[in-house]
Amino acid sequence: MKTIDPCNLVIFGAGGNLARLKLIPALFRLETAGHLPDNMAILAADREQWSDEEWSAEVTRMLVAKYPQGYDHGACQRFHTRMHYHAIVPGDDGSYERLRQTLEESPDFSRNVVFYMAVRPAEFPNIIDKLGNVGLLQQKSGWRRVVIEKPFGYDLLSAQTLQQSLYKHLNEPQIYRIDHYLGKGTVQNVMVFRFANLMLEPLWNRHYIDHVQITHSETLGIEGRAGYYEGAGALRDMIQSHLLQLMALVAMEPPVSMAAEHLRDEKVKVLKAIRPITQNAVHAHAFRGQYSSGSINGKTVPGYLEEAGVAPDSTTETFAALKLFVDNWRWSGVPFYLRTGKRMAAGSSAICIRFKNPPQDLLRHTRHDHSRPNWIMLGIQPNDCMKMELQVKVPGLELQTRTISLDATYRKSSEEEYDAYEGLLLDTMLGDHSLFLRYDEVEWAWRVVDPVLKVWSMEREFINTYPAGSWGPRGTYRLFDRDDQFWRHSLEVGGADLQAY
Ligand code: BG6
Repeated sequence: MKTIDPCNLVIFGAGGNLARLKLIPALFRLETAGHLPDNMAILAADREQWSDEEWSAEVTRMLVAKYPQGYDHGACQRFHTRMHYHAIVPGDDGSYERLRQTLEESPDFSRNVVFYMAVRPAEFPNIIDKLGNVGLLQQKSGWRRVVIEKPFGYDLLSAQTLQQSLYKHLNEPQIYRIDHYLGKGTVQNVMVFRFANLMLEPLWNRHYIDHVQITHSETLGIEGRAGYYEGAGALRDMIQSHLLQLMALVAMEPPVSMAAEHLRDEKVKVLKAIRPITQNAVHAHAFRGQYSSGSINGKTVPGYLEEAGVAPDSTTETFAALKLFVDNWRWSGVPFYLRTGKRMAAGSSAICIRFKNPPQDLLRHTRHDHSRPNWIMLGIQPNDCMKMELQVKVPGLELQTRTISLDATYRKSSEEEYDAYEGLLLDTMLGDHSLFLRYDEVEWAWRVVDPVLKVWSMEREFINTYPAGSWGPRGTYRLFDRDDQFWRHSLEVGGADLQAY
């Protein structure tokens, strides 16, 4: 492993959900594995008037909730010695001056600092401005980096405005725009799968691939996040960042090297090549829906409109699907179908690539139904796997065929998975941008979804619904180019035949 410079981490919004559920547990796991630099201080900044001791007690509560089965108490003691708390009084600029004194004048703190914005997106510019005004973002005696959570803006224009406000105090190498999907080992495996295996490359194009499906479905609802979700919706929340990033990894050309800029250059080329959806084509390319009450794992759950904090006439989408084309030589004419939804029948993320049919169907007399093309599937979660569907002869005297699945489970039982945030936190301390978004990627991703957002925001009278626990609203099939294309709901053999709606 590369060595990390001595540094400190300041978390704004340390008492919030992201810190509680992801950042603090990820840092603790890094502590347990001995990956945090010696003497690194973790300074929590939030509005509560807590002392260091009260904050430490809060951290213990977070760890107990995250690891009810117990955790390493030695690591926990070390972890607590790193903890500091700094109260930010809303509207009081003095809080930032005191923060500067703590970070720059105390001998206990290194001059290299990562500032993590685990706050609501609307608060990013204000905090950065205040940090900038007291000089905390100047790299005079050490480096200063800022981690910005998604969503970066809520449309193209607001992303541009946010970017301008960041550039007042920061330059691009100081900014780490997070998309935690890129921190998932299984997502990085898409690149390994493509670029470490030569046998796939000749097939990876419009001549052999019929279409690509990228799905992220969840059984969870909005989990008390109405305040954020009402203004976001599924298209912004999942597709603009996570799913378009997955699509870019599937579709990009091999980069010159795995260096951050080479990788990001290739991803941005894909985003630029996505055919713009004109306003009058939105209905042919996009579909949205909202869950109504239904049943998840045998339990009745409320509909979106009954969730606390949701407006009774809300048309915020909890399901969104898009059909996109990448207008370049490799992918011309190949549809990419992206879909995401909350309160769906199952929670899973996968990339499913359907191949074309052979040019002649020589074996059509061996089966009673339609031809069965090959599929390659990369399961991202809950189980990482790689599957390939092929046709074989059924043993026996007759020439009959059936589909088999080559299932390459590549995780050994001794190999533990880590959380995306663990790797990404280390990368920010190491100064590695490979798995963070460059501004042009964000901007081009907004260009893809912006026309759809505009049309949907004008159509406030009606939204299709789907019962919680189903595979989404009726009618999404109309996105498909042909009637032999179906949503694939499962990676098991036969998963392509389950044509629910
Ligand atoms: C977040 C979205 O970025 O990603 C959430 O805001 C979504 O709505 C989550 O549930 C999914 O991430 P993961 O890692 O749980 O699949």
